[in-house]
Amino acid sequence: MNDAPIGIFDSGIGGLTVTHSLFECLPHESTIYFGDTARVPYGPKSPATVRRYSLEILEWLLSQRIKAVVVACNTSSAHAIETLQDHSDVPVIGVIEPGARAAVAATQGGPIGVIGTAGTIASGAYQRAIHDLSPATHVEQVSCPLFVPLVEEGWFEHPASELIAREYLDPLVAAGTDTLVLGCTHYPLLKPLLARVLGEQVVLIDSADETALAVRRVLSSLDLEAGPDNPANHRFAVSDDQQRFLDVGSRFVGERLSHVEVVPLG
Ligand code: DGL
Repeated sequence: MNDAPIGIFDSGIGGLTVTHSLFECLPHESTIYFGDTARVPYGPKSPATVRRYSLEILEWLLSQRIKAVVVACNTSSAHAIETLQDHSDVPVIGVIEPGARAAVAATQGGPIGVIGTAGTIASGAYQRAIHDLSPATHVEQVSCPLFVPLVEEGWFEHPASELIAREYLDPLVAAGTDTLVLGCTHYPLLKPLLARVLGEQVVLIDSADETALAVRRVLSSLDLEAGPDNPANHRFAVSDDQQRFLDVGSRFVGERLSHVEVVPLG
């Protein structure tokens, strides 16, 4: 079981930021990534639809003999984490709790800002997770739906991205936010731009890195870590359009992707 892969899934390409962090943090682990590119984006969809899609992906990943599941998608984590945990016989780790924990550890008294898709923000999942850890901390939330297409265009430093970032982040600057949770798979690629707009004193919490650390803790506590001689093997699957995944995905994972399978679901 220890040499079995970790399953990772996302609504599309963005979860490769989490995959990249997992590669860095757990170099001996094998992975299977599933991106639901046929049905992306999840951000504007209803909680019930996101739960249904997420359960279909879970079922496919479990059929691949995985030892743990990482829900890289913030919107899926926000709407579906408990449902997925109830339906899985292996550990299911989402991105919300690790991000919230890191934000609470970093803040100097708040407020903590949270940015994400419309669905993640409307769910209030980050706010709840932060308040579970620190009930008195003030949380300011802003949905930033335009960031996803800007990142997929590769416009990390484009003047249009800066203009939009200033518009979205203005209320967070006005509120004196000292810590910002990047509550969406795509946002880590905007870190330099966001740091410039907010000011270098604001701590940016990258849920991808925090989740990789949480996965390491879970595997270690269950004695499920791969041995140092395990030849880490990485598979990638999507529900549609593998060429776009190959073209855009390398930006997210930081290396060229050479092969991706197509697995239609639903
Ligand atoms: N992966 C999604 C998330 O982290 C962003 C893209 C989408 O809306 O599906 O929330």
